[in-house]
Amino acid sequence: MNIIVTGGAGFIGSNFIFHMLKTYPDYRIICLDKLTYAGNLSTLKTVMDNPNFRFVKLDICDREGVYKLFEEEHPDIVVNFAAESHVDRSIENPSVFLETNIMGTSVLMDACRKYGIRRYHQVSTDEVYGDLPLDRPDLFFTEETPIHTSSPYSSSKAGADLLVLAYHRTYGLPVTISRCSNNYGPYHFPEKLIPLMVINALHDKPLPVYGEGLNVRDWLYVEDHCRAIDLIIHKGTVGEVYNVGGHNEMKNIDIVKLICKELGKPETLITHVTDRKGHDMRYAIDPTKIHNELGWLPETKFADGIKKTIRWYLDNEDWWQPIISGEYQNYYEQMYGNR
Ligand code: NAD
Ligand code: DAU
Repeated sequence: MNIIVTGGAGFIGSNFIFHMLKTYPDYRIICLDKLTYAGNLSTLKTVMDNPNFRFVKLDICDREGVYKLFEEEHPDIVVNFAAESHVDRSIENPSVFLETNIMGTSVLMDACRKYGIRRYHQVSTDEVYGDLPLDRPDLFFTEETPIHTSSPYSSSKAGADLLVLAYHRTYGLPVTISRCSNNYGPYHFPEKLIPLMVINALHDKPLPVYGEGLNVRDWLYVEDHCRAIDLIIHKGTVGEVYNVGGHNEMKNIDIVKLICKELGKPETLITHVTDRKGHDMRYAIDPTKIHNELGWLPETKFADGIKKTIRWYLDNEDWWQPIISGEYQNYYEQMYGNR
């Protein structure tokens, strides 16, 4: 089996590559990644010499390059993780989100149509459903919840999802889509809540909580997401959407307090800063469909996963130190300097 994994030098894509190479020693995995600010080749160093692995630096919007790769590799499956993924950046500069997340997806699907494919899998997000009110804990996102996006990021992901379903209906492309809640774990880029707070706390820097910090996210350990995608590409029904989440809702402020506690840092580091524009209040996934149809259940409890994740950041400073000392400094200053 030949699998092209796009965006495999990023957070979830790299964890998925590790999972697949370990679980299926006879599969060939081809990682296609543009290596944007969020892609890090050092993340893949442990698999670079694996004879079943190939890395190709390529933009998913580069039609000619993508077609050439399909001609060379004849993939059976494409799993598309490649995306601009950070909501705050999409608020500053939407256009690159539309380019990569929508146009890039269409290039990949055109290649799948042209050369033939057993499965095209789109890695989407629960953010396409918009948000839920804090005072209705009985409400969850199901696969039937209407698309109702808030940010340029989530709108671009929703646009891609609609295009994927249209390629299935119009051209019969064998597609599946997964919509997962917030992931956490190793190799999470330091601009995102959990790694940002861990790294700032380690440096005794202010912990910038947007608004009051009452927004709720539904956290899932990254390996559980990877197992869900593995199940969907092997056993999922073509044309279907699967929500992925582990019923682990937490307020941002409680996550940040937990990180302070784990690292032995004072909560006085917490600083409330200007809220994110259009900030979604609550995400909460109903994972009944993937559980009933594919037998998926999360394996890592948040209490264990967050400890493992913090330990990973403590043990892997050589991974994140070069990131935070480079171009990321400018981003941080621009995003948080006057907040
Ligand atoms: P990430 O930002 O860590 O990684 C994205 C990767 O895509 C990087 O390696 C980057 O270099 C690559 N990339 C970006 N533009 C590209 C292009 N034009 N061509 C080729 N490669 C390109 O993102 P992530 O958090 O790992 O998210 C991966 C996917 O999962 C995204 O599609 C995201 O929408 C989705 N998702 C993320 C989460 C989460 O909590 N992080 C939850 C649900 C869904
Ligand atoms: O739900 C899935 C989505 O989760 C994915 O589709 C996105 O790609 C991924 O980035 C993530 O989006 P969020 O916006 O939920 O994640 P982020 O880590 O940016 O923020 C989590 C929450 O923490 C959110 O309510 C904003 C808040 N926050 C974030 C940062 C970076 C802060 O309060 N302070 C911060 O400095």
